[in-house]
Amino acid sequence: MTARRNLADLVAGLETEDLQAQKRAGEMLLAAGVAAVPSLAQALRTGPPASRKAAAYLLGAFHSSDAVVAPLGRALAVDPEPKVRKNAAVALGKTGAVTAVPTLAAALAREGVSWVRPSLILALGAIADEAAAAALDQVQVTTDLEKEALRKALDRCSAQRRTRRVAWRVDGARQLRFLLTVPPGLERAALLEAAERGLGRCEQVEAGRLRCPPGTDPHQLIPGLRCITGLLIEAASGPPMDLANPTESAAALAALVTESVPLQHIRQWLAAEAGAVKYRLVVTPKGIRRETFRALLSAVRERCASFDLVDSPSGYDIQLVLRAEAGSSILFIRPSFVADTRFAYRHRDVGAAINPVVAACLVRLVRSPGSQMVFDPTCGSGTLLIERGFLDGQVQLGGLDVSRTAVGAARRNVHAAGLTSQIAINAGNAVDGDHWPRCDEVLANLPFGLRSRRRDRSLPQLYGAVIQNITRYLEPGGQALLYTANRKLLGQCLVQRRRQVAVKERLLVQSGGVNVGAWILTVAR
Ligand SMILES: C[S@@+](CC[C@H](N)C(=O)[O-])C[C@H]1O[C@@H](n2cnc3c(N)ncnc32)[C@H](O)[C@@H]1O
Repeated sequence: MTARRNLADLVAGLETEDLQAQKRAGEMLLAAGVAAVPSLAQALRTGPPASRKAAAYLLGAFHSSDAVVAPLGRALAVDPEPKVRKNAAVALGKTGAVTAVPTLAAALAREGVSWVRPSLILALGAIADEAAAAALDQVQVTTDLEKEALRKALDRCSAQRRTRRVAWRVDGARQLRFLLTVPPGLERAALLEAAERGLGRCEQVEAGRLRCPPGTDPHQLIPGLRCITGLLIEAASGPPMDLANPTESAAALAALVTESVPLQHIRQWLAAEAGAVKYRLVVTPKGIRRETFRALLSAVRERCASFDLVDSPSGYDIQLVLRAEAGSSILFIRPSFVADTRFAYRHRDVGAAINPVVAACLVRLVRSPGSQMVFDPTCGSGTLLIERGFLDGQVQLGGLDVSRTAVGAARRNVHAAGLTSQIAINAGNAVDGDHWPRCDEVLANLPFGLRSRRRDRSLPQLYGAVIQNITRYLEPGGQALLYTANRKLLGQCLVQRRRQVAVKERLLVQSGGVNVGAWILTVAR
């Protein structure tokens, strides 16, 4: 409550013509981290002009979430003050959000104030994806300032193209039906996220695979979704192949490649110079004879040359994945050229760190909208806390770990994620209830005992104490997530405490080739 009042006071401090005082208020708001975003968004929507100008400027310092991009886009479209629109454009450019490109392009088509227009152009140049480049190609410059801005923005786009070599051509890629790969067992979380992100009706096609609706913009997928491990495109499918027979299987694969509509149209959905798209052939199941692989590769090479695709197993932009199964054979295209910076906050790791995509999924399944305090008693490098922090700028989070190395790693990662004002990490033993705050959610990826005998011996005590502390410190209505590969031990501990804790949901998650258990618990009162 006090923190919220302080933020409101700081936002009120933006409403001044005293630039030094405004700067101080702004710096304090930035120091508050993402917790300040809702207050700044509110000031941008309803504040007086001085506050709106400052709020637009300050929002540009945050991570490109919807909570930041949407209010800036709105200001760009409707704010009557040119200086606010200009600051909103600069801020959108700083976020680098590809989702802001249509808003910036529309604003540019409308904007009549000559000193706002260069900022819109430069913002598109700062984003510099294919859609931004396409919007810039349409710009008719009217002043020297605009001309200079357009030159810089186009330079930036072509520099990006040079480093990327291959990029989506969004108009063409919208024809594709993308498949999303997700950790098996966590499809529901990925479907929830896709729906929240406005992806329309995704559907589960099998364990670990979702299909996107037609017309999906690939930029919405990576970096837009945190609950997916990757993308696939169905290239073609046919009857089963006899991989024991090199000649027959090569002919069957050649037929799949030839009839593949996505491969025939690859130049319409990928932007790249001639000869620049490189591929690698992958065959599953693994372990086929070398002779068969050679025959398959030779068939693919011959056909793919006509699609302007170059075989390059050591450096490639797409993978052609042949899945040969008993009932059918399917050829997928797996894009590998997309830079994935979603988890770039992971500067340091601990042994047994959770896969960040799994963490992103799990936190969605336990969060509840009114939560104020989330606690991870065995936080390791902080992945669960960071992913939970990204979901909600209002919540406070605490992490505990007995290992100093883990505490250092978690603090480093929290800093890199820009969440220091939300997440506090401390050293301590989770067995000891004195380290536990009262909390609305518990997220715990428990150690599972493969590292040392000493730790193995103390695991039953730790598991029991964690459950006991959950019953003491979890607020009524709160939920706890326990995630561990030692399913047997946790199952036994939960049976012993079945009068105190209720299992709301139990999931089996496949991660890194291991079946890991996830329990969502509530406390029986
Ligand atoms: C599976 S790892 C957690 C990994 C974490 N989710 C991540 O992504 O980095 C379990 C962690 O529990 C910590 N741990 C083990 N015993 C503990 C105890 N008694 N109290 C607190 N932490 C403990 C270990 O140091 C380790 O960092």
